[in-house]
Amino acid sequence: MDSQTQMKQIVADAAIKEVKSDMILGLGSGSTAALMIKSLAGEIRSGKLQNIKGVATSFQSEVLALELNIPLIDLSSTSQIDLAIDGADEIDPGFQLIKGGGACHVREKLVASKADQLLIVVDETKLVKNLNKSFPLPVEVLPNAWKQVQDVISEMNGKSILRMATKKAGPVVTDQGNLILDVLFNDGIENPKDLEMSINNIPGVLENGLFVDLTDKVLVGRIDNDIPIVYSPSKAS
Ligand code: 5RP
Repeated sequence: MDSQTQMKQIVADAAIKEVKSDMILGLGSGSTAALMIKSLAGEIRSGKLQNIKGVATSFQSEVLALELNIPLIDLSSTSQIDLAIDGADEIDPGFQLIKGGGACHVREKLVASKADQLLIVVDETKLVKNLNKSFPLPVEVLPNAWKQVQDVISEMNGKSILRMATKKAGPVVTDQGNLILDVLFNDGIENPKDLEMSINNIPGVLENGLFVDLTDKVLVGRIDNDIPIVYSPSKAS
């Protein structure tokens, strides 16, 4: 196992210690969340966790949960989620996030917004001082609006590219049937809250990957003297 996977594994296992029987649980997307879902399935199989109901944030997490016999309920059939556990692409010291590296941020944000608690699990490569200096901000757009949205974003000093698929000709198509623009702003993102709203106000935009003031707790995996460890940083004010 490479060192990044070791960090992801230890943090995924640590996250499951926060889960209690009878919870309704938001199941995040991406490789770290997938490890967490596998670890959750182990605890359910062994009987340590009982009566768990998962709410999937993507087709990926839905398929994985079904394969592992984790009971699922639909997002629209519950008014409340106890805890959502998800990964992130970048996290700043104030716990603001960029998500959507897996193009799942629309449902991830819906689940995170409905959850009483949002727990973010990352390896330490995801910690940054300022958002969007290197990782582009994913923006989900209606298919026939992508060029128009791209032009508006460029007037906001954002350079965007249409995300292209691998093993399929053409663009990535999201679980909702839309496209993704990946955007880098000239000076990174200084005010995530304002930018999140400004981008979502552009006609044709469904949702962007800025998760502002949603995160309650972060678990970080790191390798210390060849040993994977987990810590929980405090949020900077
Ligand atoms: C998917 C996401 C993921 O949580 C994010 O991309 C992190 O993924 P990984 O754990 O594979 O690094 O937001 O849309």
